[in-house]
Amino acid sequence: MAEPEPASLDRDRIPRHVAIIMDGNGRWANARGLPRTAGHAQGEPALFDVIQGALGLGIEWLTVYAFSTENWSRPADEVSFLMHFNIDLLRRRRDEMDEMGVRIHFIGDRDDPRVPDELRTEIDVAEALTAANTTMHLVFAFNYGGRNEVAHAVRRLAVDVASGTIDVDAVGMESLAERMYLPEMPDPDLVIRSSGEMRISNFLLWESAYSEFVFTPVLWPDFDGTTLAACIAEYQGRDRRYGGVG
Ligand code: IPE
Ligand code: IPE
Ligand code: MG
Repeated sequence: MAEPEPASLDRDRIPRHVAIIMDGNGRWANARGLPRTAGHAQGEPALFDVIQGALGLGIEWLTVYAFSTENWSRPADEVSFLMHFNIDLLRRRRDEMDEMGVRIHFIGDRDDPRVPDELRTEIDVAEALTAANTTMHLVFAFNYGGRNEVAHAVRRLAVDVASGTIDVDAVGMESLAERMYLPEMPDPDLVIRSSGEMRISNFLLWESAYSEFVFTPVLWPDFDGTTLAACIAEYQGRDRRYGGVG
């Protein structure tokens, strides 16, 4: 990836929705002889620098992958740390996010009994507190899986067909999209993954059909607003054809 050159950014072509797979916390910690959880803790200032950067660039939607449906398979102490870390982060930072004009959303299966009640409450509080904000939407993908989201939408559609709310002939891409976790969320223009891994890991499968992907070797705790700008510069050099001829 090119060196950061924020000055070369075209301010008229800032992606409307940037989605980030925040990866590499464990490796960042391991490289320093620290426990993996220290890497997660260090991911917080990285996230807030990115939020500031996104606000400065005028990005409308920022989605961050915080915990996947597959992350439950990690050691119990790491999972427990992540649950409590999220509770704590929301409590400590929600007012600041509110003051920045950020509207917080959560996508994923929050009703999963493995999600602590306390976290469910903090999610509800953060969403309610920031519900009227309009500067930027900040979406936390938490206990999120793309396949889970599609299955959940299909289930809702099946219920609506069975109850006669929608005719089976009307079932299609639009009626399915309307039943995703956050139907008002536009598809991501750009999906970024840190840490050098080049896979989607069940993130926004439906929504990223025509997203541009930028992979950077930077580990998430080292990621900041400048890295974000560099990723956007790379995105701006892409030719989005959507199956056409350009
Ligand atoms: C991403 O960092 C954070 C979460 C998945 C919660 P990792 O914890 O996956 O870090 P690596 O990939 O092991 O370095
Ligand atoms: C994806 O990262 C999930 C999050 C960043 C929350 P993982 O580290 O869990 O993905 P894999 O296991 O490397 O594919
Ligand atoms: Mg990882």
